[in-house]
Amino acid sequence: MEKRLIEKFEELFGKGGDIRAYFAPGRVNLIGEHTDYNGGHVFPCALTIGTYGIARKRTDNKLRFYSMNFEQLGVLESSIEGLKPEKEADWTNYPKGVIWAFQEKGMQPDSGFDLLLFGNIPNGSGLSSSASVEVLTGFILRDLFGFEVTNQDLALIGQYSENKFNGVNCGIMDQFAIAMGKAEHAIFLDTATLQFEYAPIRLKNAKIVISCSNKKRGLGDSKYNERRSECEKALAQLQEVIDINSLGDLTIEEFEEHQDAITDEVCRKRAKHAVYENQRTIQAVDALKQNDITKFGKLMNESHVSLRDDYEVTGVELDTLVEEAWKVEGVIGSRMTGAGFGGCTVSIVEDDAVDNFIAKVGAAYEAKIGYAADFYVVEIGDGPVRL
Ligand code: GLA
Repeated sequence: MEKRLIEKFEELFGKGGDIRAYFAPGRVNLIGEHTDYNGGHVFPCALTIGTYGIARKRTDNKLRFYSMNFEQLGVLESSIEGLKPEKEADWTNYPKGVIWAFQEKGMQPDSGFDLLLFGNIPNGSGLSSSASVEVLTGFILRDLFGFEVTNQDLALIGQYSENKFNGVNCGIMDQFAIAMGKAEHAIFLDTATLQFEYAPIRLKNAKIVISCSNKKRGLGDSKYNERRSECEKALAQLQEVIDINSLGDLTIEEFEEHQDAITDEVCRKRAKHAVYENQRTIQAVDALKQNDITKFGKLMNESHVSLRDDYEVTGVELDTLVEEAWKVEGVIGSRMTGAGFGGCTVSIVEDDAVDNFIAKVGAAYEAKIGYAADFYVVEIGDGPVRL
């Protein structure tokens, strides 16, 4: 892989110098959806698919970018000074945002650089191709310019750039899962404190299968920011009757007792999801520790129902994938993953049921939706690396 990318890099940007190769993963969230900006828990893991980057410092202040996923855009160029988001800059707004965020935090690269990317995560699929590019860019900046930042800082800088440069009010989950990923482990993260623990995922005789709806989703133009403000409204009203910092502070009993303080019915449903999903995530990790994968699967299913009915972020594509998955024998659990509104589902499927799962869900999806879904049997991988 790297060899082919380096050849392409040399063809575009010339040979010689200190050319370095890197990789940052994508992520899938097993449970704990739309809880990360509500001070709740999440349980994501890094994948072995992700984004490759080839980079070399320049002697001037130019930035030159090329993506093998968007070859039609050619080489996109700018100065490292005065970075601001621009529509024409397309995908390069992600790496630019990270460079800008480093500068905002007082870390000024002493030159520009050339960067070639290639991602094998389907774009816009809900597997965090953008957070993967953000963390990769931060990792490259640290390596090329010697900035003293930890992997956790890279996650926070990535989120900061996405919030402030790209205008998406995302939580910390994606960048954290990518920057802190560990092979064969998921990350049980408390987003209120950033305390986390690695939980081994030892699925005996089962696989993680991602079903990609191929319905494209842009976070910025989706209803993501709207959900976030609905939760904020609900929180503000709850705070009038109970002393909490976030929805993640509430137990189910406390929520049930005080929910009437939320006057708007829609906001009440959103808050209900956030509270119940947080508790489900805690229970799910507990079940996993007890080796009760059946319970883990059941909680995944409940998570989907809540995202469908209370949070309303699924849509016919994701619902079809999940509801068809539930019908297949050997499926332990299945739910949408990521922001929703398109993107992917994650299912835990017994080894000998995987082929049947792909055939059955694939056929039913195509018959109902009119185009095909894609299926990936994935492995849990490490965080970013220099290759
Ligand atoms: C997107 C965001 C995350 C998180 C999920 C929903 O992936 O980037 O911060 O909010 O949606 O769980």
